[in-house]
Amino acid sequence: MLQIHQRIDDKKKLYSNNKYDLKVTRDFSKKTRNQYIEHLSIERSFNKQSIEKLADYFENLFNLSETLFKSIIKIYKKDPNLSKKVFSRLKTLSTLRFNYYPNQSKPVEISKQDGVALGCETHVDSGIFTVLYQNKKGGLQVQNRKTKKWHDVPFNKNALVVNTGRALEYLSKGKFKATNHRVLWNKQKRLSVPFFFEPSYDFKMNLSFLNKRRFSNGGIRYDKFLNKSLKKFVEYQR
Ligand SMILES: [Fe+2]
Repeated sequence: MLQIHQRIDDKKKLYSNNKYDLKVTRDFSKKTRNQYIEHLSIERSFNKQSIEKLADYFENLFNLSETLFKSIIKIYKKDPNLSKKVFSRLKTLSTLRFNYYPNQSKPVEISKQDGVALGCETHVDSGIFTVLYQNKKGGLQVQNRKTKKWHDVPFNKNALVVNTGRALEYLSKGKFKATNHRVLWNKQKRLSVPFFFEPSYDFKMNLSFLNKRRFSNGGIRYDKFLNKSLKKFVEYQR
C-alpha cells in the first residue's frame, strides 16, 4: 500500500516550478508536529514523470471533491466559499492511496449478516467523501441503509465512485449518512485507487458549520476525530 499526501510549502510554490513537489518538506513536518504531517522522500520511489501524473490526478480529484462539497454547503443556504475554512491545501489530510490486494487464499472475514466471504471487512470511511477508482475485477459492495441489502458496484472505466464518509455525517448531523461498504473475497488480484477527501488536521468540526442552529459545543479538531474513527479498524489497534 502506498500513500501520498500532497502538501505544498507555501502558496507561491504551488504555482512555481515546484507545482509537482508532492512531499511534505522536512521543515514543514518539524514545524507542524502532527502525526499525520509526515516527510516522505517520494523521488526515491517515483520518476519525475510519474510524480507529475500523480500530482495532476490529486489536483483534479481535490477540485472535484471541493465542488461536490460546495454543492452540499449550498443545500444549507450558506456561502460555498466556507469550504476554504475546511480544506486548506497546506493542512488537508486528503490522501491518494493505491491498494493492491494480491490473490487471497482465504477470506479476511465471513459476514455475520449474510455469510458472504469478504476480502475487506464492512466499514465506513472517516473523511468527507471517498472518490474511488477500482479496476475491472470490481468487488466493491455498498449497503442500502434502509433495506440493509448489499449491492455490487460494477466496474465502469469512465466512472468514479463517490462514497460519503463519517466527517460529512457528523457535520450534517446525520443527514448524509456515511456509506457502509465492503469488498468481496479477492480470489484474483485487485487494484483500487481511493482518494480520501479530508479536512485540514486543525479544522474544528463544529455542528454549527452547516446547520442553522447554534451549538454551544466548540467542536472537535479533525485529527482527533480521525484518531477516534480509525480506532475501529483492527490494524490500528496496536
Ligand atoms: Fe473504505
